Amino acid sequence: MVGLIGAMSVEVEALMDKLTERRETRIGMDTFVSGKLFGRDAVLAVCGPGKINAALCAQSMILHFHPEWVLNLGVAGAGEGGVSIGDMVIATAAVQHDVDTSPIGDPVGMVSKINLIEIPCDAALRARLVAAAKAVEGVRVHEGVIATGDQFIHSGDVRSRINSLFHAKAVEMEGGAVAQACYMHGVPCGVLRSISDQADGRSDMDYPTFTRLAASHSQQVVEHLLTM
Ligand code: ADE
Repeated sequence: MVGLIGAMSVEVEALMDKLTERRETRIGMDTFVSGKLFGRDAVLAVCGPGKINAALCAQSMILHFHPEWVLNLGVAGAGEGGVSIGDMVIATAAVQHDVDTSPIGDPVGMVSKINLIEIPCDAALRARLVAAAKAVEGVRVHEGVIATGDQFIHSGDVRSRINSLFHAKAVEMEGGAVAQACYMHGVPCGVLRSISDQADGRSDMDYPTFTRLAASHSQQVVEHLLTM
């Protein structure tokens, strides 16, 4: 059994359509749809935007379905100039850019309890994701840190701050939370994002235009991942 989590239905709906032998399980306010995806046992969920929604969904998925790995997929804003709309970013690690206990002596971004800034993603799953992403025609693939926070980033200055603190290649709202839940339960995790906007002053315009294209890229990667 493998686990897939997207924040919004547009990010997983094409995969939901491919799921056969479907069964729905409701836990709290999350609905988990399990079945066969490209021949593999899989469970899919739409967690809703933001870190708490994502962490709760990931934890319920882990405890109820015991997936061998969990992949958070969807769209993201670009984290730096070299990353463009339509590109894919696969996380080496995820950070939570809005965590800040620096006034009491911690480094910015350090998540207490696990005491990490960079929450690692599984290296073997990442290598398979990179190979799967490279099989999608016409898409540039980047590997690097993905930065998560409870904000839609739409300012060049905010994006620059996140990039200078964490060297983030993409900004989004769930990956760091799914990675933390997986880390705390010892479950391998991957974060795969397709860029829908530049996370600058134009992001509110670009996001609705490019979300569907970006979501379709990450769904194609999952198909390659599960079939190769
Ligand atoms: N997801 C897609 N674009 C984003 C942005 N600019 N900020 C946060 N999450 C996003």
